[in-house]
Amino acid sequence: MISSLQQFGDKSWTQDKLVRVRKYLGAYTQILRDRPFQFDYIDGFAGTGYHELKAPEADEGASLYPAEDVPDVAAFLDGSARIALDIWPPFHKYIFIEKSPQKAVELEKLKSEFPSKRDRISIETEDANTYLQQLCGGSWQSRRAVLFLDPFGLQVTWDTLKAVADTKAIDTWILFPVSAVNRLLKRDGNIPAGWRRRLDIMFGEPEWYDVFFPKISGGLFDPAPDEREKVADMDLIGEYFNRRLATIFAGVARNPYTLRNTRGSPLFLLCFAVGNPNATDAAIRIAQDILMRDAEELPSQTGSLDNLR
Ligand SMILES: C[S@@+](CC[C@H](N)C(=O)[O-])C[C@H]1O[C@@H](n2cnc3c(N)ncnc32)[C@H](O)[C@@H]1O
Repeated sequence: MISSLQQFGDKSWTQDKLVRVRKYLGAYTQILRDRPFQFDYIDGFAGTGYHELKAPEADEGASLYPAEDVPDVAAFLDGSARIALDIWPPFHKYIFIEKSPQKAVELEKLKSEFPSKRDRISIETEDANTYLQQLCGGSWQSRRAVLFLDPFGLQVTWDTLKAVADTKAIDTWILFPVSAVNRLLKRDGNIPAGWRRRLDIMFGEPEWYDVFFPKISGGLFDPAPDEREKVADMDLIGEYFNRRLATIFAGVARNPYTLRNTRGSPLFLLCFAVGNPNATDAAIRIAQDILMRDAEELPSQTGSLDNLR
């Protein structure tokens, strides 16, 4: 399906993130296949298993009958759930969490599309935070997993990330909504209580406020103790989140990747964190390499892992 994307010359950030995660999943199952663990794929925000590639808009004025023009959807491309099911060697289990019942119905269809994996697939129509915190509370001694957290916005809570990190068994790819966070950080520092609470829940501490809005130091005779200045920009917000991840996970990729819209504005940061302190180096090395490259440069799933070392 990727070829349809190339056909339209689309440099979609959606595809960009998926190409990178796919690459990691392929490397992961090849490494884990010889190890004495059950290894699973967990998708916290699974969607439907596909997403739609919009057709490029026709030139203005090019058509006499615009309403009857080009279909809106040019192609259906693999979403994260289908990508995970295609990975070889396969995972032992596929846990797809999706809050929307309608989307969960679409995910169910994957069981007939991948009949040999039907019994390995479970679809959880639940809130990702609730489900993941419960799942992570179980035993992880002989179990490993890759978790993909691909929310629309600020849905992932710090308590969830902490529960995931505490398993010491889960490698996590997370899309951090850097642009949405920046929009909440109003220039004058007067952030409504509800927004502050959301940011506290996401960052796991209220100190972000002092980092993003430090006090303006007044002169010796003219202190201005309550005045604040916004110093936060996309870079600082992303760095702060990555530093927060490093306080709970065994390892964190140093180079999160910025996903941009077609106008080049940052939307999300693709971050990576490792749970297992005994397997940090290899995982971080592979992830950092994946994050560093242009998506087109990434070798195919069946390519040698040596390319990533
Ligand atoms: C960006 S989409 C995921 C796309 C998917 N990873 C893919 O590649 O096709 C986010 C999904 O999360 C779902 N969602 C939103 N809030 C959720 C929550 N609290 N728990 C679980 N799923 C949620 C939405 O219904 C939506 O399908």
